Amino acid sequence: MMFRIARSRDGGSITHYDLYKVDIKKGMTVLDALFQIQDRMDPSLSFRYSCRGAVCGSCSMLINKEPRLACRTQIADVKNNDMKLKPFSTISNTPAGWNSDVEILIEPLPNMPILKDLVVDMAKFYDSLESMKLWSETEDGDTPRPQSPDERKKIERYVNCILCALCYGSCPVNAEKEEYVGPAALAKAWRFHEDSRSPDPERYVKSATTPQGAVLCDLIMNCVKACPKGVAPGGAIRKIKDL
Ligand code: SF4
Ligand code: FES
Repeated sequence: MMFRIARSRDGGSITHYDLYKVDIKKGMTVLDALFQIQDRMDPSLSFRYSCRGAVCGSCSMLINKEPRLACRTQIADVKNNDMKLKPFSTISNTPAGWNSDVEILIEPLPNMPILKDLVVDMAKFYDSLESMKLWSETEDGDTPRPQSPDERKKIERYVNCILCALCYGSCPVNAEKEEYVGPAALAKAWRFHEDSRSPDPERYVKSATTPQGAVLCDLIMNCVKACPKGVAPGGAIRKIKDL
């Protein structure tokens, strides 16, 4: 199987695409293919990974124009995958020469600056979480605050977020509006608003309803399709908008 991979040695933008022939074995993932290329053909190829098990959120990239975790994407399934995303420029523009019948196309996650090859700068994604103060604040020091199974159920979906930024990279609003905090941050704001242990739940909604927040979302729902953990940020954003 041929892999066409976006390259950017000095960051900034994709400078060219390199073609590699990968020996495919049953059960191989796209991340396995990248290891093979790096080990046997091109040690200069850069990409991020850590857990190899869809837990750390490091290996997000564009695979055949769909935002996916490389470690969770089986090569055998790539051609059959169809997220049906609403297109925007990065995912609708295809590189010259790409033959989707015989090649798998790998590119960096959209909507973030490229540092090198498939490695993007996630600072802005994390900055949103920090500027919105999306963490739990204790009221009584170490006093335990028990949560019932029903209370936990309300936040279960959102707790599963692995901060992979696939939602951010799939969002047409993030592609156009530099200031938009993005789907994951808004889903996390809703998660703390709904958390029975939050001493001041309203502060999370306030952080999500600034001019950089939910108001910018067009409810396109690419984030719901791209999320590998079923967080469905778009649903949380709709709830914030409906308040
Ligand atoms: S909401 Fe889903 S897609 Fe977005 S960062 Fe969390 S796990 Fe990734
Ligand atoms: S390597 Fe951790 S999610 Fe893919």
